[in-house]
Amino acid sequence: MSQEHRFPRRDRQAVYEAIYRRRDMREGFTGEPLDHEVLARLLLAAHHAPSVGFMQPWNFVLIRNMDIREQLWRVVEKERRSAAVIFEGEQADMFPTIKIEALREASVVICVTVDPSRRGPHVLGRNSDEDTDLYSAAGAIQNLWLAARAEGLGMGWVSFYKKPDVRLTLDLPPHINPIGLLCLGPVEAFPDQPMLAELGWGRRIPLPELIYFEKWGRTEAETGGPWDGFVEVVEATVHKPLGGGS
Ligand SMILES: Cc1cc2nc3c(=O)[nH]c(=O)nc-3n(C[C@H](O)[C@H](O)[C@H](O)COP(=O)(O)O)c2cc1C
Repeated sequence: MSQEHRFPRRDRQAVYEAIYRRRDMREGFTGEPLDHEVLARLLLAAHHAPSVGFMQPWNFVLIRNMDIREQLWRVVEKERRSAAVIFEGEQADMFPTIKIEALREASVVICVTVDPSRRGPHVLGRNSDEDTDLYSAAGAIQNLWLAARAEGLGMGWVSFYKKPDVRLTLDLPPHINPIGLLCLGPVEAFPDQPMLAELGWGRRIPLPELIYFEKWGRTEAETGGPWDGFVEVVEATVHKPLGGGS
């Protein structure tokens, strides 16, 4: 395998560190104000995400105003209460104890929106799948999330809301789709595991269970040949994600 374009080991390690040590944060925000420079870097990282037909369907509404954040909190709280009815048994008991946002504690809240009309009615590649504008914006949020982790900042993606409520609160035009309220800022500590895993709400599915070979449902053993030994390598990688060697 050619290694001509590979980053030096330390840089590669930093990329994986950001990925593995990123967490969805809802607790422990200190509320300290963010430097304009840092926030600008994060938004620029988001703006360098891939997008279908180079559509760049995103906007970023930056919210510091506490009255507006209080209104957003009420919108989310209303949705949280209405979502509570769908859980049963142990989850019904646990759900009310789970914190699902940090809208009032974070340093800043960013509403990320998608404009499906950006670049007109025929965006290259979007004729086949209209949702590609959403995938693009999700990539932008992930870029921001990883860059924030590298900067030592916590971020939580909040999606518990009815879109018309957020549109009304933030004066968004009717065709603008608010896909996330990002709570961003310095935090006291980052947990090692997703908070939902720590609470026992969910667990990370073992990666080999999610991989099929050549066609849906086929295991490595069923296809053989070029895939021999791959699952073993995946398992070894899970235990040592940054790998060895140079
Ligand atoms: C599209 C999306 C929406 C989410 N919405 C919420 C939310 O409304 N409230 C919340 O607490 N977490 C939300 N999360 C965070 C997930 O719960 C979190 O990513 C997951 O538990 C895994 O934890 P980790 O991000 O720390 O790895 C959302 C994540 C994604 C990707």
